[in-house]
Amino acid sequence: MCGIVGYIGDKSPVEVIMAGLHRLEYRGYDSAGVAVVGAGKLDCVKSLGKLKELDRKLEEHPLHGNLGIGHTRWATHGAPSEVNSHPHFDKAKEIAVVHNGIIENYQELRAALQAEGVQFRSQTDTETIAHLVRKYYQGDLFAAVKRALQDVEGAYAIGVICKDEPEVLVAARHGSPLIVGLGENEAFIASDVPAIMKYTRKVLYIDNGQVCRITRDGYKIEDIHGNPVQLEVKTVDWDDAAAEKEGYPHFMLKEIHQQANVIRNTLRGRVHEGSDEVNLPDMNISVEELKGCEKIVIVACGTAWHAGMVGKYLIEKFAKVPVELDLASEYRYRDPIVPPHTIMIPVSQSGETADTLEAIRIAKTRGAKVASIVNVVGSSVARESHGVIYQHAGPEIGVASTKAYTSQCTAFALFTIWLAEVRGVMGKAQAREMIAHLREIPEKIQWILDNQEDIKRCAADPKYRDAQSALYLGRGYNFPSALEGALKLKEISYIHAEGYAAGEMKHGPIALVTNELPVVCVAVNGDTYDKMVSNIQEIRARSGIVLSVATVGNEAIRPHSEDVFYVPECFEPFSPIVVAVPLQLFAYYVAANRGCDVDQPRNLAKSVTVE
Ligand code: AGP
Repeated sequence: MCGIVGYIGDKSPVEVIMAGLHRLEYRGYDSAGVAVVGAGKLDCVKSLGKLKELDRKLEEHPLHGNLGIGHTRWATHGAPSEVNSHPHFDKAKEIAVVHNGIIENYQELRAALQAEGVQFRSQTDTETIAHLVRKYYQGDLFAAVKRALQDVEGAYAIGVICKDEPEVLVAARHGSPLIVGLGENEAFIASDVPAIMKYTRKVLYIDNGQVCRITRDGYKIEDIHGNPVQLEVKTVDWDDAAAEKEGYPHFMLKEIHQQANVIRNTLRGRVHEGSDEVNLPDMNISVEELKGCEKIVIVACGTAWHAGMVGKYLIEKFAKVPVELDLASEYRYRDPIVPPHTIMIPVSQSGETADTLEAIRIAKTRGAKVASIVNVVGSSVARESHGVIYQHAGPEIGVASTKAYTSQCTAFALFTIWLAEVRGVMGKAQAREMIAHLREIPEKIQWILDNQEDIKRCAADPKYRDAQSALYLGRGYNFPSALEGALKLKEISYIHAEGYAAGEMKHGPIALVTNELPVVCVAVNGDTYDKMVSNIQEIRARSGIVLSVATVGNEAIRPHSEDVFYVPECFEPFSPIVVAVPLQLFAYYVAANRGCDVDQPRNLAKSVTVE
């Protein structure tokens, strides 16, 4: 939810930290701050608003030293304000803390500290950590942080510095992401890899309950009780440009255009030319477990949940295993029944979504085997699952998920073929045919990317661009396409949009249809095409504005539609992967034409790491 960066070394901490925070701004951007230890002082600059405000203030008030921490915030406790922005301090302002997460027992801690005479400056949960560290500080910051965290309950990734220890950076995590970057005579901490990739590719993925004491030439890791921990140094293979915009006006547009290659990367190493087998070794599920599986539970949030719905339809259709699809935020509170031989498939781009993580923990305690579809290597979801399918979609910086969605749908297609073959309900010939269909998807996506004229024209048309609301309709595999298309439009253009199963039109939504309501109808060739045309005619009979998504060559749909977005002919079960692209582009161009902040929509953050 927030981004943290820390640095110790000979470079300017402000320069390193601010460059890193800008790479993390998608994690939250309502306020920010930096603290630096230098020349026996601990000094700080904070600002409300986006990072460029902090850049400006740092110009006026430069900070010098060799040790620093910084933070870009997405408010959870205490409204966005300078006083609530991080870093937070002890009373004497000699200890500074930045934090990503939520301290769940912070009220009790605050009350206890206040009873001891501590006065709080802010409304945040984070400030309790600074006062706790001070309470336990006896000349060893590492020891004080470990002791303080023994009192803390909840999720945290923290960076801590102290005026009296100008060569020591302390970091710790529980439930929120944190990495340590190792350089030559310098070291870094960050919430996410893009923040430090320009300086080092050697990283440690700190795990839950671990505390790290970092100096410029080394580090020590222990749990909060002082037990030593060894972690493997990993090498990040993302290229630096991957986190840049590469000439596109927004990360989102860049990421939409990456999707042909993203699908190739998701397939890479898992299916081969002419092959009839899928290879998913990291799922860590045995053939016996697959054969014995009696139920699959898919849990996710937002776009990932829409991908999960595509997965449900595919798995039940081709692998003949019952699938329960749950919103993670509902699953975790409904005391779910987890029968024996259940496999859970969490889906998460960031791998840090709090609700999805909690759903995993519940399912594991009730005996489920957990194999997640996740994009970020080493993320909490990945580490807390028994196995994974990494999406290999590369960093997704735009808050609105695009390439992650199509990559997740592709991962489900791979899993479905693998599961069906292992369970003996799909023959080699059918598997080979479906794999061939999957391998054709990238070129179909590229065709759409190369033919955007109609999409751009419609996005500039006032009847769509200035609409007050919109309806998205789909059936079967493309019911989730309607849900996802509506989410894209609403979250970046702020036009209210609702996705609906087309068969539900007559059960209420048709009352909304007027000559000012755009209705996007996914009507590609397939089993539900004729039914979709009937729905389209019902809408047209009530003067609704029909924008159809149809298969190239289908001219018959034109008289029933105001406008048509065409997609290449596609194996219907995999069509959601292709259909997503024109709907992403449409939402993007409408939002851009409305002057919206496409990459950082209001009120949203890239990763919802708190409830
Ligand atoms: C989708 O465009 C949104 N950014 C949001 O719904 C997102 O899909 C959801 O928060 C889940 O995130 P995750 O995939 O990182 O778990």
